[in-house]
Amino acid sequence: MKILLVGNGAREHIIGEKLKASSKCDELIVFANKVNPGLAALASVYHVGDLTDMDAISAFAKENQPDFAVIGPDNVIADGAVDALEQVGVKSASPSQECAQLESSKAFTRDLLNKYDIPGNPLFKVFTDEEGLMDYAEELGTIVVKADGLHGGKGVQVQGDHFDTLEAGIEFAKEAIKTDGRVVIEEKLIGQEFSLMSFVDGENVVDMPAIQDHKRAYEGDKGPNTGGMGTYSYAENLPFLKESDLSAAHEMTVRVAAAIKEELGEPFVGIMYGGFIAVKNGVRLIEYNARFGDPEAMNALTLLKSDLVDICMAQIEGALDQLTIEFEKKATVCKYVVPEGYPASPVKGEHVELGELPEGVDMYYASVSEEDGKLLMSTSRALAFVAKADTIEEAEKLAQTAVENVKGPVFFRKDIGTQELIQKRIDMMQELRG
Ligand code: AMP
Ligand code: GLY
Repeated sequence: MKILLVGNGAREHIIGEKLKASSKCDELIVFANKVNPGLAALASVYHVGDLTDMDAISAFAKENQPDFAVIGPDNVIADGAVDALEQVGVKSASPSQECAQLESSKAFTRDLLNKYDIPGNPLFKVFTDEEGLMDYAEELGTIVVKADGLHGGKGVQVQGDHFDTLEAGIEFAKEAIKTDGRVVIEEKLIGQEFSLMSFVDGENVVDMPAIQDHKRAYEGDKGPNTGGMGTYSYAENLPFLKESDLSAAHEMTVRVAAAIKEELGEPFVGIMYGGFIAVKNGVRLIEYNARFGDPEAMNALTLLKSDLVDICMAQIEGALDQLTIEFEKKATVCKYVVPEGYPASPVKGEHVELGELPEGVDMYYASVSEEDGKLLMSTSRALAFVAKADTIEEAEKLAQTAVENVKGPVFFRKDIGTQELIQKRIDMMQELRG
């Protein structure tokens, strides 16, 4: 088979690696907006083009005739790459533009849960003008303001984190109404966040292991939000969650998949990635994404024992129930190496040198390019290191050794996957739930 992969981050590097590892994949072809050295090495055709140009993506597919496609990045899915590919007869293991509203419109998803009586929403209201904004904010007490649409992770403002007073939150909400036409105001939830990604064929939902991401740039969850500095997973459930938290999250995804099919008249094909939060009395939904998480893809796909090409085909054919999908029962820790100054004022175009890679660790290229045999960073996350081991302690040590071996003006979070950080999560949930 010939498989088209769209995108060029570390997430796409590992997706490409897993597709290529299948005995069914003869050729991997890639449409990207720059050369990812790791992904380029796997591809028979590597086309550098404009990821916002759907016609260019479909023209590339028409010329190369892949058997199916996988789209990595959220914005490319939201812009309708799957629909453009469908026009030239290429099916994707990723959702259509309509279905991808699950991620691209916060209001769509919140409304969908309410309309289909699916528990999981925090208290929220959608506003299209200023009327009643302040009254509602006061009613909630502590709020989160969410701009509609995709804002590269910067559309969400949390009281206490990004602003202090309700007045300041309302100012942000008014700006969002001007830009997007509407804004979501919701109650601030207290608890522990986790990512649960699932393979979905429109009806059947197969979960990957639960993973915790770290969005803040600095240790101790301080500093600005980033794309994600690192992630970990356990051989079994995350230690601060109950089995019932995972089943509640699973149930939500099953019901949302069914609701989308009914509401839009088409199946959601691809990855439903729930950003959940375990709260005092259960699980709530922060958001859904319509793609693999980055860095979560590194944890989940490192553990995946089954053939990713088989899974993609079953997603497209609506036949996930005929497949047994298995993951290794091991712990993983992924740490990103990022340029100094990231995310606000990163150094640009600096060299970075790879060190020795300990056994049990894999490295995936993100925002780096190769020039004269040297690696050059851009301004985003540069390299992802994922370690797999029997215990989280071992996996953390391996990942930490790997990132420390990288030389250059970079930093990373030492605390991700450490016992100290995880114990804080456990204590917090214990205090919350008693
Ligand atoms: P999102 O872009 O929806 O993932 O939101 C970014 C981050 O904002 C999440 O990872 C949470 O840490 C935080 N957040 C979003 N919604 C809420 C909420 N209702 N209560 C508390 N924190 C939230
Ligand atoms: N890990 C955050 C994201 O992929 O959106």
